[in-house]
Amino acid sequence: MALNPQIAADLARVAPLYQRVKTVIPELEWPVHASYVAAINDLKKTRNAVILAHNYQTPEIFHCVADITGDSLALARKAVDADADVIVLAGVHFMAETAKLLNPEKTVLIPDVAAGCSLAESITAADVRALRRQHPGVPVVTYVNTSVEVKAESDICCTSGNAVEVVESLGSDKVIFIPDEYLASYVAEQTDVEIIPWQGHCEVHERFTAEELNNFRTGHEGLTVIAHPECPPDVLAAADFVGSTAQMQDFVVTKRPEKVLMVTECSMSDNIAADIHDVEFIRPCNLCPHMKKITLANIQRSLETLQPAVEIDPDVAVRARGAVERMLAIG
Ligand code: 13P
Ligand code: SF4
Repeated sequence: MALNPQIAADLARVAPLYQRVKTVIPELEWPVHASYVAAINDLKKTRNAVILAHNYQTPEIFHCVADITGDSLALARKAVDADADVIVLAGVHFMAETAKLLNPEKTVLIPDVAAGCSLAESITAADVRALRRQHPGVPVVTYVNTSVEVKAESDICCTSGNAVEVVESLGSDKVIFIPDEYLASYVAEQTDVEIIPWQGHCEVHERFTAEELNNFRTGHEGLTVIAHPECPPDVLAAADFVGSTAQMQDFVVTKRPEKVLMVTECSMSDNIAADIHDVEFIRPCNLCPHMKKITLANIQRSLETLQPAVEIDPDVAVRARGAVERMLAIG
């Protein structure tokens, strides 16, 4: 059967982009993506927009429409310099809020407002105020996976890529570290600063078990296991390397392990495998249902309608921006 002429034209236009993802997106599936990819890349020009995509976005977003990719820290840093009128955040809501804090004059779009995060849901601004009353004078270090209201109650933010550095920058012998209990315990192992944690967890990383990792090692001789610090402590202890999503990516790109198991969200392996063909990726797949709410279809709709746009109460924004900027000032 002959292809619809519009689809055939779109397929021809985006054919070079398919070359980037052909090892991770089957040829049969590509026509479903091609028209969206063509339309989004046109809309970016007419809207003077950039797309920031987190490392957990699917390959057709990550490799075919994103302008800037990375972990939470890189996206926050690069949001500061975004030379555009419109920023589309292909990631979760707290990432879009951070981009808006750093670009108050720009339109920041999150293609699905329901793209949340179990860590951000685990704590409220009132909880932080209660913690401060319980531990008077102790500074609050807040993982960026939180709402803007929680950031506004904090002294400084951190990401999984700079948490130890941020904790040690405060010169305090004790800090309140919220909301990820497992990241807090990972940080506590690497510093003499006393860490007062909160009991928040990532619903994706908390599901991995050390037993699962050890079973993978038994089944795959010579396997290198690398894990995100949102995993439980016994999983981190069973890993060969622990780091943020960008640090995990760097590890694979520079060390080129023969076989690697990335203990994190599924799309990470796909996105790296699209570029690197001499590493075998063993995939224990835990999807983040929030990251997966972002699709080519809703990115296109966002660019067409300039909705949903992130808006932040100005009083909250001033205080939250201070916490994010103090983090960014630490090198
Ligand atoms: P990174 O900052 O390491 O990209 O982590 C963000 C995140 O949500 C991990 O689950
Ligand atoms: Fe939040 Fe976990 Fe999803 Fe990251 S993977 S956005 S921490 S729920």
